[in-house]
Amino acid sequence: MAEAIRIERDGDIAVIVIDNPPINAGSAEVRRGLLAAIETIGGDASIRGAVLIGAGKTFIAGSDLREFDRPLQEPQLPAVIAAIETCGKPVVAALHGAALGGGFELALGCDGRIALAGTVVGLPEVTLGIIPGAGGTQRLPRIVGIPAAIRMIASGERVPAAKALALDMVDAVVDGDLRPAAVAFARRLGHGKTRLRDCGVPVADDGEIAAASRDALKAGRNRPAVRAAVEAVGTAARLPIDEGLVRERAAFQDLRLSRDARALRHLFFAERESARHPDLAGAMRRTIERIGVIGAGTMGTGIAIAALDGGFQVVLVEADDAALERGARRIADHYASRVATGRLGEADAAGRRFRLTAGTDWAMLADVDLVIEAVFEDLAVKQEVFRRLDAVARPGAVLATNTSYLDVDAIAAATMRPQDVIGLHFFSPANAMRLVEVVRAAASAADALATGLAVSKRLGKLPILTGNAFGFIGNRIYAAYRRQCEFMIEEGAYPEQVDAVLESFGFAMGPFAVADLSGLDIAWRMRQARAATRDPQARYVTIPDRLCEVGRLGRKTGAGYYRYADGGKGRQPDPVVRDLIDRARAETGISPRSMDDDEIRRRALLAITNEAALLLAEGIALRAADVDLVLVNGYGFPRWEGGPVFLARESGQLALERDLDWLAGLSGPGFTRADPTPLLGHTPGRPVPSA
Ligand code: NAI
Repeated sequence: MAEAIRIERDGDIAVIVIDNPPINAGSAEVRRGLLAAIETIGGDASIRGAVLIGAGKTFIAGSDLREFDRPLQEPQLPAVIAAIETCGKPVVAALHGAALGGGFELALGCDGRIALAGTVVGLPEVTLGIIPGAGGTQRLPRIVGIPAAIRMIASGERVPAAKALALDMVDAVVDGDLRPAAVAFARRLGHGKTRLRDCGVPVADDGEIAAASRDALKAGRNRPAVRAAVEAVGTAARLPIDEGLVRERAAFQDLRLSRDARALRHLFFAERESARHPDLAGAMRRTIERIGVIGAGTMGTGIAIAALDGGFQVVLVEADDAALERGARRIADHYASRVATGRLGEADAAGRRFRLTAGTDWAMLADVDLVIEAVFEDLAVKQEVFRRLDAVARPGAVLATNTSYLDVDAIAAATMRPQDVIGLHFFSPANAMRLVEVVRAAASAADALATGLAVSKRLGKLPILTGNAFGFIGNRIYAAYRRQCEFMIEEGAYPEQVDAVLESFGFAMGPFAVADLSGLDIAWRMRQARAATRDPQARYVTIPDRLCEVGRLGRKTGAGYYRYADGGKGRQPDPVVRDLIDRARAETGISPRSMDDDEIRRRALLAITNEAALLLAEGIALRAADVDLVLVNGYGFPRWEGGPVFLARESGQLALERDLDWLAGLSGPGFTRADPTPLLGHTPGRPVPSA
């Protein structure tokens, strides 16, 4: 195997090349090699200074997280940085690609930093439930000051090179060749060391520090890593750097094995694993340059924006002139607002809008490579759309439906080319939400699916492959969760209590507030459509139907599970709803009992766990950890809890079996109790247990 670190020479400057593909992760081997290289340079009188540079596409993009579940190997990063600081010669970090986490801490330990345009730097450790552990919280404030360092480190901000330059986080940004520029810079520094540890921390106003801390804790939901980050940065102003470094390291070591950190690492590895599909491994991807979107409603416009942002040519087709105009205006307004708020340059926005063609003529779809249909959720309408598409789309185009619940096989059957048909289930708002369920129908070709996954990635999304079943993974689990919450209000809780418990668990919104937001009528119509096939023995909660029958359809009608003042905002519990629930209980013969918060939380989460196990057993979800990615990225499940599968693994099989029996007993007839075994498999990224 090639050495991870090698020393090259450019006259009197040594160039230390970090070569640990694919992302030059700061592994134990990299640290060992760096330490040895610094010692060599320190002892070689013919060397005046050094440059640290990454081979390939990036500097050190981050630490090697596979190490983090075990004791860290020597030498650890602080020792490498200390060696740089004491080697007596200037060392310049030459940054390209990403210099994040430990990579940027290493750069902060150098005497100068020079970045290629387009580089991203930062200390995103809190997004993994930890804080920087090699001086990031002590050195960064010496450049940007305490309030800015709190904002950056507590949010895990990734800072583009131009901003980093403006804040002095890098000394120069170059457009052309990075290495010679860095060598010249090292030579200019001569023999002098310009260590951040010797600099003072810029004086800041106490009020400003307090405000930055308060905002950071609020935005970071007061999680342990965010608290520790705020505390550690604050230390930089009060204590000598060596004491600050010791405290930072101790906090880092504690957090590394904390529950939040393990949960977030689980999601990190789950995401990496989710991209690997053994049965699609050899599949070719079709070339996609032009994307057609059918339907310019809520979803169609969001998908069109995502595709324009992804660099594609987009053809947007509508049936209705007025709807087309509304959709086109929504897209224009979206870009105007990004320009107005400084999130996008004017020329860039104009370029994106220029790639959009919109109209009502289906012939426009004749030469697109992928079509995503987002018309009304009605099988007959969708089948008609696919019949027309079959006639107009070029051979080999991938035909995708954004349906939430409909049978993708039935949609594919409307064409003569079911092998080209897949589901691409986006979430609303489609330009912002990361999750996409890529649905495999019975006839979907491997290359069509591989293309769906690849295009979703190009749109910056997290695609999860799922089988074709009512609600796919996410909506089916969500329905089971909501049903369990309805059981609970039938038995004795009220919507506001259930919502409060689940919001304090970490969901952005409780299930009843979500129902009011999306509108109760969609689910009502769906229940009516499925009434004939419903198991008459199964438990059925009538409360949602009763709300709809009295016109309480959610926020849009000013009332649903709650009453809404002020034009739809500000939910308030409503005595009318309590009466309605009390009546429903009485008519069903249920005597209400009081329910504690712990029961509510456990039942809601176990309902999710149970449905996840069923989906795995049915082969709809392919990997247990995929379920966690779906819930965290599409349904507001708190990221730091790792997802239902992570929670299930934490409780272990025995406890889980007992809990699911308990849940089944409370849920009554029609509830299918799952075997939890498929949830309990190996956690990606962790060593497989040997016995
Ligand atoms: P929408 O009602 O906002 O938009 C549908 C648009 O399709 C309308 O503008 C309509 O004029 C147009 N349309 C209808 N028939 C057409 C045809 N034959 N040819 C061309 N255009 C036609 O609906 P929305 O919310 O955008 O939903 C669209 C699809 O996305 C549905 O299948 C829905 O289940 C799915 N979906 C919706 C989500 C949501 O949160 N709204 C989330 C995920 C999926």
